[in-house]
Amino acid sequence: MEIKQKIKADVYEILKENIDIEDIVVEYPKDRSMGDYAVPCFVFAKKLRNSPVNIANDIKEKIEVDNYEKVETVSGYLNFFVEKEELTAYVLNKVTSEKENYGKSDIGNNKTVVVDYSAPNIAKPFGVGHLRSTAIGQAIINILKKTGHETIGVNHLGDWGTQFGKLICAYKRWGNEAEVRENPIKELTKLYVLFHEKAEEDPTLEDEGRAYFKALENGDKEAYELWKWFRDESLKEFQKTYDLLGINKFDSYNGEAFYNDKMDEVISEIEEKGLLKKDAGAYIVDLEDMPPALIKKKDGATLYITRDLATAFYRKKTYNFDEAVYVVGNEQSLHFKQLKAVINKMGYNFADDMHHVNFGMVLQGGKKMSTRKGKTVKLHDVLVEAKEMAKSYIKEDNNIDVEEVSRQVGIGAVIYNDLKNYRINDIEFNLEDILKFEGETGPYVQYTYARIMSLLNCEDNFKVDYSKVEINSYIWNLVFKLHEFNDIIVKAKLGYDPSLIAKYVMTLAQDFNRFYGNCKINDGNDNDKAFKREVSYAVAVVLKEGLRLLNIDAPEKM
Ligand code: ARG
Repeated sequence: MEIKQKIKADVYEILKENIDIEDIVVEYPKDRSMGDYAVPCFVFAKKLRNSPVNIANDIKEKIEVDNYEKVETVSGYLNFFVEKEELTAYVLNKVTSEKENYGKSDIGNNKTVVVDYSAPNIAKPFGVGHLRSTAIGQAIINILKKTGHETIGVNHLGDWGTQFGKLICAYKRWGNEAEVRENPIKELTKLYVLFHEKAEEDPTLEDEGRAYFKALENGDKEAYELWKWFRDESLKEFQKTYDLLGINKFDSYNGEAFYNDKMDEVISEIEEKGLLKKDAGAYIVDLEDMPPALIKKKDGATLYITRDLATAFYRKKTYNFDEAVYVVGNEQSLHFKQLKAVINKMGYNFADDMHHVNFGMVLQGGKKMSTRKGKTVKLHDVLVEAKEMAKSYIKEDNNIDVEEVSRQVGIGAVIYNDLKNYRINDIEFNLEDILKFEGETGPYVQYTYARIMSLLNCEDNFKVDYSKVEINSYIWNLVFKLHEFNDIIVKAKLGYDPSLIAKYVMTLAQDFNRFYGNCKINDGNDNDKAFKREVSYAVAVVLKEGLRLLNIDAPEKM
């Protein structure tokens, strides 16, 4: 039986007359010297009408001590030290037989989660700002799948809004078809900037831009064709960035434009429910404790939030999601609060299942990352640079596909740096630092994996008699950590927090290197050697799978 289940069952056996099994929690003590697992007894105090200290002592008297190395009580906690040999055999057998499936769980069975992530804006560069949503979102999808959830990954493209009216206006006035075809994003960005420059001198251009957007919203053929062209070209360009990141495909690319004809229905419903208020010609919904949500401007144009309302209802209807997560930066917190509040006011409680998974900015030297001219840094450029820089670290070896491995290492470094800290914090981006093979970097973890692979030389089957091995502290530490993998993944799901996995693979790699430095792996009798190699193998399996959850490849050689 799984060890924590066993602890639960043993405690339950003693308390079952008064306590439900769900009341029993098995935790990790803060300090491992206190015990491997702990059961807090204050949670039983009320039902048992006794003090936690007495309860703990009482359970200790009655528990089947043979099942454990020892059981201790410390101020109302029961601390369990588990049988090392038993857990070691259990964990190693499990990892070697389940391989990449190790750590899987079924907490998500029959649950569907819509993950809205990446979502760059059409006709604008795919900038480093969208790296975070892409990296965090993809990791969350991988974690959800690992925990048994059905996932729908949606790239909610920013492909609608007044800026498209401006762009169409600029293209019609100053655009050149051949140039745009040649270099779409660059030319379109130029046109967009030009529009703003000219509009400063001639404010009527703003009206013209608005009129084009209105035409687009009303289905004007020419405006639509242009818009469609800009969108297709942008998507083609974006795919180059996704390819580098190792993301082939989203389940849906329905962006804001897709909801153009789906907003009226929601707006009517808001109106029928008496929530729509006219305010200086515009329409708003009043909300408690926050600014009102602007639903329609006075010229009748809809807004970002109007489209997100239609989106939420569409997704609920289409996917019947159990949860919908939006992987979007901190700066949109108010937007998502308003979105949920409006849905709530309309009388739907699925707003409670919508979560804004927010994150901080990408900084360079403490400031928002931008080009020298203050423009968006293109993610594609950064990734290519990372890949090129990684090349110099890759061993000269005929068996190594240098192009592919340097992509894996360069991109792995960028993604690891993005995911290693709790997402709400800003991250610092410095290519030199994040590519180092030492310190808390992606390449350090990848390198540890590659090192184990070369050490094992393809061996993956080990005959070990566990009753005859010495489980020293280095090994015990590794085994215990391997056993924790499942819990870490579940926690990462609950908090939508990939950094837990990033930190986990880091400490696992560090602990392995400590083990490797202190325990001569090829010393001892055959059983000892096979045991140490099996431990190394299990670490490699879990490192690789942990990295995969973060969407980072683990090359076998580097
Ligand atoms: N395109 C938006 C941006 O770049 C992000 C969209 C997020 N998703 C959503 N459903 N609002 O800011």
